[in-house]
Amino acid sequence: MGTGIIGIGRELPEKILTNFDLEKMVDTNDEWIRTRTGIEERRIADDNTDTSDIALAAAKKAIDDAGIHPEDIDMIMVATVTPDQSFPSVACMIQEKLGAKKAAAMDLSAACAGFMYGMITAQQFIDTGVYKYILVVGVEKLSKITNWEDRNTAVLFGDGAGAAVLGKVSEGRGILSFELGADGSGGKHLYLDEEDYIYMNGREVFKFAVRQMGESSENVLVKAGLSKEDVDFLIPHQANIRIMEASRQRLNLPEEKLSKTVHKYGNTSAASIPISLVEELEAGKIKDDDVLVMVGFGGGLTWGAIAMRWGR
Ligand code: ACO
Repeated sequence: MGTGIIGIGRELPEKILTNFDLEKMVDTNDEWIRTRTGIEERRIADDNTDTSDIALAAAKKAIDDAGIHPEDIDMIMVATVTPDQSFPSVACMIQEKLGAKKAAAMDLSAACAGFMYGMITAQQFIDTGVYKYILVVGVEKLSKITNWEDRNTAVLFGDGAGAAVLGKVSEGRGILSFELGADGSGGKHLYLDEEDYIYMNGREVFKFAVRQMGESSENVLVKAGLSKEDVDFLIPHQANIRIMEASRQRLNLPEEKLSKTVHKYGNTSAASIPISLVEELEAGKIKDDDVLVMVGFGGGLTWGAIAMRWGR
């Protein structure tokens, strides 16, 4: 049997911040944001909602979807760069609120590649038979580390969470191959500055992202013994539509095989891949035995990709 996703859920704050709202906050305009990034609006959590609240809501949906009980969960991993506080971890906070009494719990820091890192770490415990069910959450409240006076970054980010329960799935389904990587020498291009705001060298990150997303997507296909024609859906990290389009073209995929949620939610970092996956499933676009390629990149610099055959 393979290891795959047996339940999934997402949570997005209700408040919508549009490009037109941003026009009133910084020197920018809807046309610039849409054409350069593909973003039209993003969700922003209110002051009373912290990262763990968004994570908890997504986690509950994933556990329900999996048809298991919180007490069945062996481990919780939360990928985030915006925890409520440095410790206790968000994973411990939701462990208590879920009542996942026997679960080990930890946070994981790999920025926008965090959900890929979490999935692959979980896979190792399940493949070896050590654990049966692992909850992996990608969650961010990026609004709290966004400098709302800096137009270079304020227009890009949003809040949200996606969660998945991993467990055993039928032979031939689940994670087929993966690639994880990091290049610490690129840390200077994307980091939390001394004022606790996101600093980003957009052009450098853009170049890295286009190169790495393409390479990693191809690499996981080769490792899985698949070709580009086998891919049914590409679910890239939703940072910028131009980066996502470059990845799609590198895999020679038609437009309808690219998952797109960036226009609605902006860049939600570790949450963007699972949020997109849920949206495609709800829209009925992903069927059992479809081949999915998920690929993310982020601060660190980090990257991660997974080829997966969908289904339990
Ligand atoms: N509104 C209007 N003008 C703007 C804005 C804005 N919001 N932001 C920048 N500009 C201006 C710049 O000042 C610049 O003006 P200048 O030519 O007079 O200097 C001009 O627009 C062009 O700027 P560029 O940086 O060349 O724009 P580019 O086409 O590269 O797009 C962007 C910028 C969208 C940031 C792009 O570089 C990008 O998407 N980079 C990757 C970002 C990314 O993926 N980040 C992931 C972070 S994930 C994480 O870890 C949280």
